[in-house]
Amino acid sequence: MMHIDPYEKKFMVIGVVVLVIFAISITVAGFMLGIQVPSPSQLIDPNTVSSQGPFSDPGLKELSPGNYELYIRAEASPWRFYPDEVTVPIGSTVTFQVTSADVQHGFKLQDTNINFMVLPGQVSTLTYTFDEPGEYPYICTEYCGVGHQNMYGVITVK
Ligand code: CUA
Repeated sequence: MMHIDPYEKKFMVIGVVVLVIFAISITVAGFMLGIQVPSPSQLIDPNTVSSQGPFSDPGLKELSPGNYELYIRAEASPWRFYPDEVTVPIGSTVTFQVTSADVQHGFKLQDTNINFMVLPGQVSTLTYTFDEPGEYPYICTEYCGVGHQNMYGVITVK
């Protein structure tokens, strides 16, 4: 039988134990707690998002009292989000629908779990309930060209 140094054996055991813990954690998070990586909710033609469909007239749409969809279109040249100022009533549940008209952008809403990539041809979706009043800035988190630093906006909750 091959000789294995006791220290090496210990580290092999630790390595296997850590792998098992990871596998259990992923299984519990994904299948029992339902924690999922944000995935594209639908495909869309980036060539027409500016001229037709809900992203050609982006902004807040009320589905039912206190329940909203927020359509945001990210664009390079000029680098900005449409819209870049949104006001929602306190207690609102907002489903973000974000897409790009050109290159890869990012979208992060400060102090929330809203954080995803924004890809041309896809719609990124996450939902958040605004229980606290205040200003929630959002920024582009993917370098998207010379005007990247100008891509920001704010959601005001009151
Ligand atoms: Cu858009 Cu960086």
